[in-house]
Amino acid sequence: MTTSAASAAAISIRNVVQIHTIPSSSSSCSSRSSSAMRFAALYEPKKNKSHCLSSSSSSSSSAMLRWQTNSLLPPLTTYKTTVSYLKYGSRDGGRGGAFSCTCSASVPEQLKGAREEIKLIIQNTYSNPILIRLGWHDAGTYDKNINEWPKCGGANGSLRFTVELNHAANADDLKMEYLAGLHNALKLLEPVTAKFPKISYADLFQLASATAIELAGGPKIPMKYGRVETAGPEDCVREGNLPDAGPPNPAEHLRNVFYRMGLTDKEIVALSGAHTLGRSRPDRSGWGKPETKYTKDGPGAPGGQSWTVQWLKFDNSYFKDIKEQRDADLLVLPTDAVLFEDASFKVYAEQYAENQETFFKDYASAHKKLSELGAKFDPPEGIYIDEFP
Ligand code: HEM
Repeated sequence: MTTSAASAAAISIRNVVQIHTIPSSSSSCSSRSSSAMRFAALYEPKKNKSHCLSSSSSSSSSAMLRWQTNSLLPPLTTYKTTVSYLKYGSRDGGRGGAFSCTCSASVPEQLKGAREEIKLIIQNTYSNPILIRLGWHDAGTYDKNINEWPKCGGANGSLRFTVELNHAANADDLKMEYLAGLHNALKLLEPVTAKFPKISYADLFQLASATAIELAGGPKIPMKYGRVETAGPEDCVREGNLPDAGPPNPAEHLRNVFYRMGLTDKEIVALSGAHTLGRSRPDRSGWGKPETKYTKDGPGAPGGQSWTVQWLKFDNSYFKDIKEQRDADLLVLPTDAVLFEDASFKVYAEQYAENQETFFKDYASAHKKLSELGAKFDPPEGIYIDEFP
């Protein structure tokens, strides 16, 4: 398939979905449908004030940040905040509030334990792709032009709050009964945060993403932990910082978005290679076919359109497939196609299609950088749970 044919196919599928769902929206960053707005209202987090009472109160160990629900829907999730509000500075958002201290944002042993738990979850649910997207969408809101944390956005765990989860780029585009998108990733991590509460959400999201890449056969990423998490929904950034898959000028759009994060052309191309994993679903993003020969039987929930044939294996096939565009069952978003059209992007895309080792090396370095965007580390030098040469 040619680039323009692939783009047109992707666009037409998106338009069909939008005609039946949110006719006023043409951008993944546009305002939400009224059903989603209702959903947002139903699920606004309600803080149990007990965590603010006393640093010695044992009741604080069971302090919960609950999601208020009504009878229409099952409870989305329950976030355990626990005694770490008091013991670990991260839980007040690191803003030097009454409970801030000099302890680290996450505890190394818990990070290691959580990693093992995440591995089990991934092995049982084939959830590598959505966990990677969770880490990316938390970090990818970063704006290097804003100096103040957490106003600058980035890898700070703010994606756990309803207001940000309901940004169009993070939620599903259809009816609220079909809870999809990144809510699902959070639900998957619920048992991890219950078992290992002394990890900031900012670290948890990045730990899950890096673990998912490694488990899929991707490079080992030299991750640093200790990210402080934001305290509440008021610290979520405005909607619209994440890229749109079908902008009028994809190269210019990608540069606008990724340069704002302080990333380079090389990093844009390398990071796009994460689409070697996963699928796009019309009922989530509006992009992709409802199912293809590669997705109709899963693994995991069937359906969607993948970029590659083996969409749970991290390799350089994304670049090969985007370059060739021979299979109508494989997805090529306009922002994927442009990697072989723009002169500067193309240099790297060609290299990665040729040489998987180069791709892995550049991907690992770009992913590490992405995972640290806007992050405030406690301790400042961060925490390493692996040894790297
Ligand atoms: C370059 C700009 C990007 C655009 C426009 C874009 C757009 C999209 C879209 C439309 C989907 C489909 C979502 C759905 O329907 O569920 C998707 C999925 C995905 N994206 Fe991206 N993305 C970009 C960059 C990235 C980056 C930088 C990463 C990671 C480093 C990433 C990782 C993923 C993964 C793993 C999935 C599959 C999720 C799943 O199967 O549940 N993307 N992306």
